[in-house]
Parts: sequence; C-alpha cells; structure tokens
Amino acid sequence: MADQDSRAGERYATAQILDYTARTHHPADPALERAFEAPARHGMPEIQLGPAEGRLLELLLRLVNAHKVVEIGTLAGYSALWMARALPPGGHLWTIESDPTHAGVAAEVIGEAGLGDRVSIIRGDAAEVLPKLSDSGPFCAVFVDADKARYDAYGRWATENLRTGGLLIGDNAYLFGRLLDDVVEAAAMRRFHEEMAKHYRSVCIPTPDGLAVGLRVDPEA
Ligand SMILES: C[S@@+](CC[C@H](N)C(=O)[O-])C[C@H]1O[C@@H](n2cnc3c(N)ncnc32)[C@H](O)[C@@H]1O
Repeated sequence: MADQDSRAGERYATAQILDYTARTHHPADPALERAFEAPARHGMPEIQLGPAEGRLLELLLRLVNAHKVVEIGTLAGYSALWMARALPPGGHLWTIESDPTHAGVAAEVIGEAGLGDRVSIIRGDAAEVLPKLSDSGPFCAVFVDADKARYDAYGRWATENLRTGGLLIGDNAYLFGRLLDDVVEAAAMRRFHEEMAKHYRSVCIPTPDGLAVGLRVDPEA
C-alpha cells in the first residue's frame, strides 16, 4: 500500500499538473500570496506550508466545524491565515511563536488580512505557553509545525486538550526523510505518530514531507 502511494506521487504529479490543479481548485488570492511571500521579504527561513497544504488545513477545519484552534509554530502567519479563514464568527486561533521577529511579521500579515480579531499570536516557547492555554480548551484542532524534538510532547498535550472529534495535524511527519534514523528528533516524531495511531483515527498523507492527520476518538469508546 505504501508503495502505491509513493509511486503515484512520483510518477504523476508534474510541476505543470500541480500548477493547473492549484489554479483550478484555489485560484490566486492576493492576501495569501502576500503572506506566502512574507518570509522571503523579511529574510526569514522559507519553511511555510505549500498552498495546497494550506488549503487542505482550511478544508479539514471546516469539515470538523472547528471554532477553537491552536497552532504551534507561526513563522510569518501563512498557515495561520488559511486556518483563520476557516473559522466561523466567534471562532479563535491561538498561534504560538518563539522567535520575536517571526511573531512581529505574522502580526503584520494577519492584521493586513483583517483577521487580527480572531487570531492571538502568543510569543514564547510552546513548552511554556501550552500549559497556560489549556484553560481556553477543549480545542477543535491542533496543528503542530515547530521544533521536531518536541512533537511527542505537543502530541500528548493535544490528546489531553482536544474534544472528541477534534483534529491533530502534524507537518514534516517524515522528518525530512530522517524519520527512521537513530536521532532524538526521529524518536520524538515516531512517538508522535504512535500517539496519533493510539488515540485517533489517523493517516499520514504523502505530501512532500508527510502530513499526519488524526481525528480524536472517544477515549471511553
Ligand atoms: C516551519 S515554521 C512554521 C510555518 C508555519 N506554520 C506556516 O506554514 O506558515 C516553524 C516555526 O516554529 C517556531 N518555533 C520553533 N520552536 C518553537 C517553540 N519551541 N515554540 C514556539 N515556536 C517555535 C520557529 O521559530 C518557526 O517560526
């Protein structure tokens, strides 16, 4: 089965096909394009999601009627913008960023998009911020996209703070091809996968670096 997934990805998704499908399914959007370009404009690492992954996040949040969402790893606010757009009136996104420059750029991006009222950019280390955020839960979705060595801890926090039927999503789930290596980050990422497999109905979508998605199942069932 895994072989079928990788074969389809390698053989059929040409750059031209990806361009056509992106233009057809989620046409150009100036605010999102500006947000996507923000890391380059500000000399920051260009490690944001791709547009199709952003669109997928938006759709997933809409599918579970998410109104309270946590993101770990804001960068310049590109994925935050996609997710904020999925929220209904009164919904809220808390996005955590430890780098003050990144957080400042994200505040600008989100403000320019007119979504400042539904997004809180929390400046700080997620390990310190998350325990304080628990009081605002339970949450409908948690998106993990930050320091890889802590994915296991972030996954455990999500399991404790998501409602039944909520979503846990983790980017870079293949760890840049090092998922099976004997290094600390890989062990943490494998524990993240195993946490998801145990407490969620889950899949790892074969995006370029793997996107793990799990639906929290009833702990009593
Ligand atoms: C891959 S980028 C996030 C990309 C963003 N989700 C997007 O797609 O637009 C990872 C971000 O996580 C931040 N980060 C890393 N470790 C963190 C931590 N312990 N707490 C909070 N943020 C952290 C980094 O500074 C960086 O901006």
